[in-house]
Amino acid sequence: MTDSAAPEAIAFPQNRTCPYHPPESYDPLREARPLSRVQLFDGRSVWVVTGHGTARELLVDPRLSTDRENEAFPAPTERFAKVRNRSVALLGVDDPVHNRQRRMLIPSFSVKRIAAMRPRIQETVDLLLDAMAERGAPAELVGAFALPVPSMVICALLGVPYADHDFFEERSRRLLRGPRAEDTERARDELDAYFHALIDRKRREPGDGLLDELIHRQLAEGALDRAELVSLATVLLVAGHETTANMISLGTFTLLQHPEQLAELRAEQALMPAAVEELLRFLSIADGMLRVAKEDIDIAGSTIRAADGVVFSTSLINRDGTAYETADELDFHRATRHHLAFGFGIHQCLGQNLARAEIEIALRTLFERMPRLRLAVPAREIPFKPGDTIQGMLELPVTW
Ligand code: HEM
Repeated sequence: MTDSAAPEAIAFPQNRTCPYHPPESYDPLREARPLSRVQLFDGRSVWVVTGHGTARELLVDPRLSTDRENEAFPAPTERFAKVRNRSVALLGVDDPVHNRQRRMLIPSFSVKRIAAMRPRIQETVDLLLDAMAERGAPAELVGAFALPVPSMVICALLGVPYADHDFFEERSRRLLRGPRAEDTERARDELDAYFHALIDRKRREPGDGLLDELIHRQLAEGALDRAELVSLATVLLVAGHETTANMISLGTFTLLQHPEQLAELRAEQALMPAAVEELLRFLSIADGMLRVAKEDIDIAGSTIRAADGVVFSTSLINRDGTAYETADELDFHRATRHHLAFGFGIHQCLGQNLARAEIEIALRTLFERMPRLRLAVPAREIPFKPGDTIQGMLELPVTW
């Protein structure tokens, strides 16, 4: 085997060739399961976890850290490297700080609280589809539906005025996609300034969102400092709309490309929750969770050394043939539970109940209200996101 074909030389992350499959260039990594090496943009070689069991073992191991201020923390892109020295609440801190922050938020994302939000999510979805129908076909589904659904819902939950959505959607986009590293840095500054001003306003005129609760309880009592609150607000706002929007757009595209599965879903509404779970596994839109080792870890016949970088390729983990039969097929009847699309361990997605409810209501209502929904241009002409960010469609022209 030549050096260039060796798994060590494989660059990570890479662009998908099909928006719903992992890049074919990752095939050697699948063969080298559960653990191999990849090269990041800066030439650094890091571990890549591709096996389902090994990933679950490592993601609960406290010797792996998400502390981005650790100098050895891996950077998957230049723009990530640029903001690495900025603290990131929740996602970028280890216990016990992480545990203190997360405990304050858990009640707002419980199954019960999210179930109570379902009528409001349904109302938002109906409103957007009414507007789309009124304007008439064709439509660009990302801008008209996939992005505003979660954006409106997270605004209501946090108490952020949706009227500001152009501002924060644009900054979120730059934060996650650049294109230049400086764009990311500036977007972070602008979001910080936005939340500082919003906190001041809310102190004078309290509202009834989660941010108001945090300001008037945790901040006032000293359980949270202002910089932490600003970072928490940014993480919740960005994670709350960018991720789910991609699941709705890519989920719609994938269903339209899989007419048999779509017909099954239409014939049997009760399949919907299982379909959402399988789409989460199959699409694995958040591909590449990052960690740094704080101590040596012996696992799967290898030793991860202290200060080594580790990335978890969720798209490969969720298609591990030892965990899922016919893993590359979209099958709403399989036991999909235990997929790692929302991560695992202490950082497992805080918003997963909300995301599930939004995706389910959005996809069910969209296909119910527009039974003739189809792509307005050939699939190969539709642009999708590059591999170094959350996966999804850049645009989705549809007609009905
Ligand atoms: C389908 C949509 C979503 C996907 C695929 C997704 C995926 C993920 C993943 C993979 C992680 C773990 C990252 C890691 O361990 O490094 C995570 C964490 C997180 N997600 Fe989500 N997410 C989604 C929706 C949401 C929503 C709607 C929210 C709402 C606020 C949210 C908030 C968070 C937060 C706050 C964390 C950090 C949790 C912690 O560190 O304790 N996510 N998400």
